[in-house]
Amino acid sequence: LLGAVSAAALLFTANAASANCDDGEMVIKFSHVVAATGHPKGDAATLLAERVNSEMDGKACMEVFANSTLFDDDKVLEALLLGDVQLAAPSLSKFEAYTLKYRLFDLPFLFSSLKAVDSFTQSEAGKGLLTVMEDVGYTGLGYWSSGLKQFSANKPLLTPSDADGLKFRVQTSDVAVAMIEAMGGSAQKLAFKEVYGALQTGVVDGQENSWSNIYTQKFFEVQDGVTETNHQLLAYLLVTSTEWLNSLDEDFREQFLKITNEVTIEANASVAAKEAENRQNILDAGGTIRELDAEQRKAWVDVMKPVWTKFEGDIGTDLIDAAVASN
Ligand code: LMR
Repeated sequence: LLGAVSAAALLFTANAASANCDDGEMVIKFSHVVAATGHPKGDAATLLAERVNSEMDGKACMEVFANSTLFDDDKVLEALLLGDVQLAAPSLSKFEAYTLKYRLFDLPFLFSSLKAVDSFTQSEAGKGLLTVMEDVGYTGLGYWSSGLKQFSANKPLLTPSDADGLKFRVQTSDVAVAMIEAMGGSAQKLAFKEVYGALQTGVVDGQENSWSNIYTQKFFEVQDGVTETNHQLLAYLLVTSTEWLNSLDEDFREQFLKITNEVTIEANASVAAKEAENRQNILDAGGTIRELDAEQRKAWVDVMKPVWTKFEGDIGTDLIDAAVASN
């Protein structure tokens, strides 16, 4: 009971402290790290806020904080449990402290297309993974995909051996570290907001990300070029605190979850087009993109394959098989 009372007090404080919300509205703060517009996640967060603020007007008030202005990905998960934010969408690579199952999504060359990603995330196996962190306080509300990843570096990368001796920024993911080491490079985990500076000053030589991040964060401007490897998925978990979700009135929760589901479907349907647009934006801005022929691509696949074996114990072969079957 005491817990419920202090949770209610916290929510009340959040209501009172928010400038743009009306009295009595439940404040829902959503913190993320990418561009506010022109990016699959930035646009999805805006769409979600627009729908909540119009359809739940008087009951709920959503505020979106983009570009790491409120929290980094490593802090936002703690902030969810403290009630400082109610929604976040970190990439699936950033949950290693809470579950090792999500290592699945980081396996190199696992998904051949975004369509395959959609079919896996909508399957029973995919949906089951939304609730694997409830024992540590997090509930996944859906997967927001963001594209496949490409490598960039301060020199041309055509074969994996071109990465020999280079240092790459990676997300906080041991699978990513193993992948870079398999290429003969070294990996450095860095927060997203530090990547541009690290590339510019030569703290790292390269990085891997989606077309949308490479364009909107201007990484291509401080790199020799981008190689179209499509080697790994970038996708997010729209995540909330289980305690907060359970504290909502049933009608409120149902309406809110219906909106999040609809926005998730709509957002995922436009990711491929946004990614293609940002790829083109890089070219239009004078960036270099290198494509791989079939033989070159096979070399990347072969070099990274041992990474699967290294992590299959954490993930489970059943899950890996289910994901492969969606291709
Ligand atoms: C990264 O850290 O590179 C990405 O997870 C950032 C993002 O949210 O797209």
